[in-house]
Amino acid sequence: MTDAAATQLKQRLVAFWNTQEHYWDGISDEVAANSPNRGRAASFIPEDSRILDVACGSAANAQWLKPRGAYFGSDISQSGLRRAQQPELRLACGDAEALPFADASFDAAISTFALEHAVRPVQMLQEMCRVVRPGGRVVLLGPSWDLPFWYPNALQSKVAKPGWRRSYTWKRVLGQLGGWLFGRLPFLIIEEPDALSLPFVYDADAVYVVWSYEVIRQMRRWGLRLVHGEVDDRMLGFSAPVRLLKRLLYLLPPYRFAGSTVLLVFER
Ligand SMILES: C[S@@+](CC[C@H](N)C(=O)[O-])C[C@H]1O[C@@H](n2cnc3c(N)ncnc32)[C@H](O)[C@@H]1O
Repeated sequence: MTDAAATQLKQRLVAFWNTQEHYWDGISDEVAANSPNRGRAASFIPEDSRILDVACGSAANAQWLKPRGAYFGSDISQSGLRRAQQPELRLACGDAEALPFADASFDAAISTFALEHAVRPVQMLQEMCRVVRPGGRVVLLGPSWDLPFWYPNALQSKVAKPGWRRSYTWKRVLGQLGGWLFGRLPFLIIEEPDALSLPFVYDADAVYVVWSYEVIRQMRRWGLRLVHGEVDDRMLGFSAPVRLLKRLLYLLPPYRFAGSTVLLVFER
């Protein structure tokens, strides 16, 4: 994707987030549904930390993060930030791909259910690493679509097209093989997510098809260490052959963290 196309896609997404008040109503339900995961993610941040919540939306994480130190949040959407009700929160409107903070100015950076919305996920990860001090933590929580036949709701409208699923899966397999064997990480981006033209369903505004393996590998390239990783639901399904296939795939390094919601904790 060219820089111009990425900028245009981001502008369209920001306009979407800023005009869809019901999106933010829906986030409250998601927050409730994901509370145990959020609490668990916060538990990996040492106490008395200066914490940046990147792409914080309505600052839902503040309730779990405030007990761990000083909370700062930033998000690209004014609508999201307006929903953050607590006056003591320090919030800034800013792009996660160019954070308005100095190098090494936080003990920890966390991002929940947001990396999949970054048009340039590598830049977002790089920025999170930049603002964290050496020895500090970067915590990521959110969905991933690691198995090659998994895809976000942002692509749902394409599924009915003849052959789409097969060609998506092959493209994904080839991209993942290139990433695993030769280190050419695909960071697959959806250029036309369904949310921009169809009624909204959860993650129809995702643009990065998260693959946990490539996130870990990219972070390692920058010298970060994975100190913890876990998945909440391995999504095995009910069919015996599919369960067996998935169990075998999960033995391979590229699919070690395949599942519904993945939590990755890195140390810089
Ligand atoms: C699904 S919401 C999650 C919000 C919050 N992190 C949470 O867990 O409740 C995704 C958020 O990512 C924000 N976002 C997406 N791209 C961004 C970017 N490039 N910079 C900053 N925020 C971004 C959106 O505005 C939105 O608030």
